[in-house]
Amino acid sequence: MRQGHHGMLPDNTQDEASRQSFVQSLKLHLARQVSPRLRSSYEQKVRPAFEKQHKRAPKSRHEVHDGMLRDSNFQMWSSLQRTSQELKQDSQTEIAFRQIDSLAERALKLVRGSNRTTVRSNPDLAIPRYATAVDIHTIPGGYHSELIKDDVLTGAVYDPGVWLYSMGRMGDYNEDIGATLISFLKEKHPGLKPKRILDMGCAVGHSTLPYTEAYPEAEIHAVDIAGPMVRYGAARAASLGKAVQFSQQNAEATDYPDGYFDLIVSHILLHETSHKGLRNIVRESHRLLAPGGLMIHAETPSYGKLADPYDQFILDWDTYYNNEPYWGPLKDEDLRAITAGAGFKRENYFEQVQPSAVGGEHAKNRTKLFQGGDFGGAGAWFLWGAKK
Ligand SMILES: C[S@@+](CC[C@H](N)C(=O)[O-])C[C@H]1O[C@@H](n2cnc3c(N)ncnc32)[C@H](O)[C@@H]1O
Repeated sequence: MRQGHHGMLPDNTQDEASRQSFVQSLKLHLARQVSPRLRSSYEQKVRPAFEKQHKRAPKSRHEVHDGMLRDSNFQMWSSLQRTSQELKQDSQTEIAFRQIDSLAERALKLVRGSNRTTVRSNPDLAIPRYATAVDIHTIPGGYHSELIKDDVLTGAVYDPGVWLYSMGRMGDYNEDIGATLISFLKEKHPGLKPKRILDMGCAVGHSTLPYTEAYPEAEIHAVDIAGPMVRYGAARAASLGKAVQFSQQNAEATDYPDGYFDLIVSHILLHETSHKGLRNIVRESHRLLAPGGLMIHAETPSYGKLADPYDQFILDWDTYYNNEPYWGPLKDEDLRAITAGAGFKRENYFEQVQPSAVGGEHAKNRTKLFQGGDFGGAGAWFLWGAKK
């Protein structure tokens, strides 16, 4: 199985490919063989000990976490899980770093040669603290760091990294989340004909490109705070003959005029922001939408649907050990109130788990692999608001 080809993928030597394949096998082993044993540890040791001490079962993911921290099976799994993540980032970064100059040149050439896709970089953009304070999910230097002029390095790390991480289960072009959100739109809003679409936190455009096919008449814009991501994304889109206007912007405060878009989407952006960032993004979405416009943010499933605090605890691993500090806190936000507070109609808010457009059974495994847990939900969680 191979990642869908385009003009920006870094080259791999045989040794590099074999190192990647090792990381892939390690991740699979942890997800399929080791992670299920954690539940037995919980059921047989950690929960009984908690019940003995507190005369009740654990009520929250935090209580389960406190108990599991002392469990040697959890300690081993968690440290191997973290190691596999660091190995993945390191091997991917080394490959892209070796080609850093030629990738930057390739990107410039592809975008210059396109009359459909553009990119605007903004070296003066203030990067929010939530993106600079931690190396988000262990990407060295985060998404935004730049080492050379016209750098595309983090894009070249991220693109094959997502494919490796999901083992192709997000589709040949990692398009799963965008395609899934589109499948929701086609089902619920079959008559929707957006003139302009904005994808917030687009990264390298994995989720953006499916909109070019689903809504060929629409003008499609995609913003991200990270220069290397939008430059790589634009070059990737150009090499695939797509028309997208990429720009390096903060989704909390963009330079588009009021009411410019009729559809605003994001795909797994919100959990990488902050308490304040989330509110600003929802407010900015409201400002940017034309009357009647739609905002939909696809996210990881809400914990509210999971009755068992153990399941919530497993899904929360990234909050503590994968440099994703807002992952768990986002689940505790009152999204209905935030959406209404930004001016959206309160009654239009809903959350929905949508089956993956790339494959139902597939998506189950994908969620398992992503989380190292056994949550059976198959797709995305949506935050939705229609402008009054
Ligand atoms: C997990 S990635 C998003 C993946 C992408 N949407 C996709 O579906 O392939 C999160 C991205 O959001 C970007 N980001 C974080 N905060 C942002 C903000 N305030 N405005 C714009 N982009 C932001 C990061 O730089 C990163 O590229």
